[in-house]
Amino acid sequence: MQAGQTWLLRRAQCALSNRVPRRQDLELWRARRFGMLLSAKADRTGGFFWHMRALVARRSLWVPFREEVESWLAGWTPPHRKLLLVGPSAGWCLPDSFLTRFEEITAVDIDPFAKPLFSLLHGRALRRAGVRLSWSQTDFFADPAHVLHAHPDATVLFCNVAGQRCVQTRDSAAVEQEMLRLRALLQGRSWASFHDLLSAETHETRQARHLAQQMSAYDLLSSYGLGGEWFDHLTGQLLPPNSPRRIMPWRINRGRLHLIEAGWVEG
Ligand SMILES: C[S@@+](CC[C@H](N)C(=O)[O-])C[C@H]1O[C@@H](n2cnc3c(N)ncnc32)[C@H](O)[C@@H]1O
Repeated sequence: MQAGQTWLLRRAQCALSNRVPRRQDLELWRARRFGMLLSAKADRTGGFFWHMRALVARRSLWVPFREEVESWLAGWTPPHRKLLLVGPSAGWCLPDSFLTRFEEITAVDIDPFAKPLFSLLHGRALRRAGVRLSWSQTDFFADPAHVLHAHPDATVLFCNVAGQRCVQTRDSAAVEQEMLRLRALLQGRSWASFHDLLSAETHETRQARHLAQQMSAYDLLSSYGLGGEWFDHLTGQLLPPNSPRRIMPWRINRGRLHLIEAGWVEG
């Protein structure tokens, strides 16, 4: 640890309880008043305000992150023609160049806005490329085995969704177990995920980097020279420990940085 640097890694459970509401909490609170606009679950991840933010940010603040995602996905070449997208939202950060490589895509997202907005954003490119798209407004994590078994010959991409589980459930041990169970369920399949690993209120930013294998949160923050208080999204066990991965910093808004972990596993 370098002198002068301190970290406080908050587990999801602590960070959710007894805290002063922040601006994003107030947004969610406002969102609940317009219940007809939001599904019961989507208001905690995705949903109307997420799309409003994404609509503006994807062409400004999120451009470097979207480019990182595109370049990472360009390096992933699973042999399958079918793709299962979990939690793609409208695909605000998903490039057409990746989606059009498949013959058939099934998207699973609990957010009722996701399907029409995804079609607006990607529909034309998919139609031109002859990609068949189907949609399911299902809670993937309610029964992941069921969803995966329904798509035995599809490669799976988790689209920045795993790191949302700690927002949806307050039991951090259960979330960590869920990550391990999911990894076991996926054994033998070809799959990939990009997900929130750590996040913080900070104006600092950093370059993306490659890791040959898993690195502890403390070592990662240390190697980036980042200090302060960080929120642990409890996804550190999702990728197999020895899998190479990419860390892609995502400035989600002007005062908040997410470190996104991205990796794939060959079937
Ligand atoms: C951070 S957004 C993903 C953004 C996406 N990568 C993009 O490019 O726009 C997370 C998405 O996961 C979806 N989601 C969260 N929990 C889910 C669950 N249990 N089952 C299915 N989808 C879920 C949310 O509705 C939301 O659309």
